[in-house]
Amino acid sequence: MNRNESIENKARGAVDLPALGEVAAKSTRSWRVEPGTGFATSGGQVADAGVSEVPATGEEAAALKEAAAVLASGGTVAFPTETVYGLGADARNTAAVEAIFAAKGRPSDNPLIVHIADMSQLNGLVTEVNETARRLMEAFWPGPLTLVLPVAEGAVSPRVTAGLSTVGVRMPAHDVALRLIAAAGCPVAAPSANRSGRPSPTLASHVGEDLSGRIDGIVDGGPTGVGLESTVVEAGRDGVVTVLRPGGITVEQLARVAGAGVRLDAALQPEAEAGGGAAPGPAAAPRAPGMKYTHYAPQGVLRIVRGSADRVADRIRAELAAAAARGEKTGVLAFDERLPSYRADCALSLGREAELETAAHRLYAALRRFDECGVTYILAEACPEEGLGSAVMNRLLKAAGHRVIEAGGDLD
Ligand code: TXA
Ligand code: MG
Repeated sequence: MNRNESIENKARGAVDLPALGEVAAKSTRSWRVEPGTGFATSGGQVADAGVSEVPATGEEAAALKEAAAVLASGGTVAFPTETVYGLGADARNTAAVEAIFAAKGRPSDNPLIVHIADMSQLNGLVTEVNETARRLMEAFWPGPLTLVLPVAEGAVSPRVTAGLSTVGVRMPAHDVALRLIAAAGCPVAAPSANRSGRPSPTLASHVGEDLSGRIDGIVDGGPTGVGLESTVVEAGRDGVVTVLRPGGITVEQLARVAGAGVRLDAALQPEAEAGGGAAPGPAAAPRAPGMKYTHYAPQGVLRIVRGSADRVADRIRAELAAAAARGEKTGVLAFDERLPSYRADCALSLGREAELETAAHRLYAALRRFDECGVTYILAEACPEEGLGSAVMNRLLKAAGHRVIEAGGDLD
């Protein structure tokens, strides 16, 4: 028997999530702002996402001004980015940053990414941008890449960095985010705008489900683009780029820019991932502290089925039939090529196998949907760990607590 299959098949309830502390009830305001056309998702097109080039109606400009004023005065405002919705606060204001942690129920040792709208905001925020980091910014900003850089003393609240000597910085490729940050006039600390342990929000309604009444406002800019978070990297002085969290910019894209190659943080190596537990052992303590937490777990048991297409399909059909026979409410998350052949109470599509962008875009909403349907047993098809598939599998493995069923044959 595969080691991963021996794990007890027990539904995990809400008890697995950290208890939310009390926060004073807030009335959460909501603003609707359509993203403009200057909307780059692939990075590298600084001019395309330029703050000044995006048209907005008078009403939308007023909405962004109001939301920015809430940020500038120490409030917490959720906003869309090209990856997922973020929950923003003035990164320099400790009380505001603490309100983010309280609203999310986020462990305080997990540092926040600081979002900027303009390169000039790096001045005074970090002490050094080496040649490799500079090249990555030129290639991928604005875009889904976070760079871990040495933080300038006193530039942001120590809560943002969780006591580290570095700060994660990114410039999102979303004109609503860029306009909001520019109007707030401060670096904006923003984790994903979900309750800790829940899937990151890809719609404003997801933010509302998790955080309504706990934050000051939500800027609704429609669905996010990539659907998974940014790639977090460290660029060494030796030119080597280390990926701390896979995400919207792929290893292959990074390799085209990194002079001396790309490597994965030890905690992302297959040995560390294959442990069967929710977290890698201490020998592989992740350098992005957030990577050690179990995330995104749906309420029902989720297992990933990996192998050749035929064997995966056979195995999923058999497992679903067995689960239904023992009275489980079943869910399946699969590619369109095979989805119609599965019988489940809740069958959700990852799109076509050749278009992993669709899988990334849909994954988190699907995990939320399974909870809404109340399914108790879910099977998901694996995808190849190449390109965006690495980030998709990273999140799926976390959601499944690394429970993988090996169906046999080579992964197609
Ligand atoms: O796409 C994204 O990155 C979204 C949007 C809102 O920008 N944000 C996001 O934030 O995913 P969050 O807080 O959910 O994840 C931030 C990750 C965590 O794994 C954290 O540990 C890591 O970045 N991180 C932040 N600062 C770091 C630092 N100084 N050194 C190492 N890792 C850091
Ligand atoms: Mg997050």
